Parts: sequence; structure tokens; C-alpha cells
Amino acid sequence: MLITFEGIEGCGKSTQARMLHDWIRENGQNTLLSREPGSSPLGEKLRAILLSQESGDISPLSELFLYLADRAEHVQQVVGPALQENKIVIIDRYVDSTLVYQGYGRGFELPFLQQLNARASSHVWPTLTFLLDLPPEEGLKRAKNRNVENAIEIEEGRFESESWKFHSKIRDGYLELAKQEENRFVTLDAQQPVELVFESVKKHLMEKITLTQA
Ligand code: TMP
Repeated sequence: MLITFEGIEGCGKSTQARMLHDWIRENGQNTLLSREPGSSPLGEKLRAILLSQESGDISPLSELFLYLADRAEHVQQVVGPALQENKIVIIDRYVDSTLVYQGYGRGFELPFLQQLNARASSHVWPTLTFLLDLPPEEGLKRAKNRNVENAIEIEEGRFESESWKFHSKIRDGYLELAKQEENRFVTLDAQQPVELVFESVKKHLMEKITLTQA
């Protein structure tokens, strides 16, 4: 089973993904936590290029292909083998990030991106996707504070430096995708306390497991 977490910068998806991974492991199930970009030797190099402010303006087409290269490597080297071993795989960002950031954000047509996603992911699709929804002003404030606290403003701050308008398009894009695929997406209010969000994550996962086993 593949579970993904999505949302704008600062929505708390990495925290929730980690909490879910730990909870599943404590319950004796085999699980793998991963993220995009990154999570393969090539992917870590691509992450450094894609997220560094020092990379400056990468053309949207080059940016798209770098994310896809990261995904192809990640699926072939990490996700595919883990699913073969029947692990519950949790990924912090996946195919929907491309649809939203490169589609709604950068302006590429969704059908074109869907085709590329299909190839890059080898048709490995998530069973369940948690969208942590948050107003962009709140998310950006949190993300910028986190980058300052961890001293990673330069290394990881390229997207945080985008305009409020860009992040607003990202949020709307996610909500639109979630509306189109109601069976896969669960949208949660990320302004709630972390523990409350996590209770919902667990509840929805249990429901999904019950449904898929029925
Ligand atoms: P994060 O891992 O800290 O959330 O940062 C990853 C950034 O990369 C985030 O700004 C979204 C962006 N991104 C894309 O633009 N397209 C993609 O396909 C993926 C996976 C991420």
C-alpha cells in the first residue's frame, strides 16, 4: 500500500508522515518512510539543486524534468522494491506535487503532466493521499521560521521565496485535485493541533484498510 502526504510549504505533512510511520511500525507492520525530491543517491543531488536558492531561476521545463528524474529513480530504486516486500510505503510528496507545482503553479497542461507522471512513476499510484490544507500566509510563515531555525534558508528556500500569489495557486490546485479524486484524497485542516490532525490520519487510514479488505 502506498500512502502520500501533500500540501503547501509549512503545512506539517512531514511531521504527520513521520508520526504515521512510527505508529505503523509500533503496531508491528513493515513500513518505509520516504520523500520527494530526494530518497535515492541521485535524488539527494537533485534535491540540492532543486531547492537551493543558489540555483536561481531554473527554467520551468528543466525543473519539471529534474523532478521526474528524481521520481523515476525513487520508484525504481526505493518504492518499487519496498512495495514488492509488502511494506506500507509512506511518501512525503509524490505525483500530485508535480501536477500542482508544475501544473497550477508553473502553467504546464495537466494531461501532459499526467502522461509524464505515469512514465516516471511506472504507474505506481497512491491508494490514499492526505492533503493538509492551510492558508498560504500561515504555511509560508511556518516554513520560513523552520528554515531559519534549521539554518537552511539558502539550501532549501527556493520555493519559499516564490510570491504569495504562487502559493495561493498551489493551495487552490490541491483543493481542485482533491475534489476530482474524492476516493483517494482526504483533506484535513492543518490549522488544527498536530495531535488532532494525527487522530484523523489514523482514523482515515483504518477506514481505507477496512474498505480495501472488504
Ligand atoms: P519539501 O520537501 O520541503 O516540501 O520541498 C519540496 C519542494 O519541491 C516544494 O516546494 C514542492 C516542490 N516540488 C515540486 O515543485 N514538484 C514536485 O514534483 C515535487 C515532488 C516537489
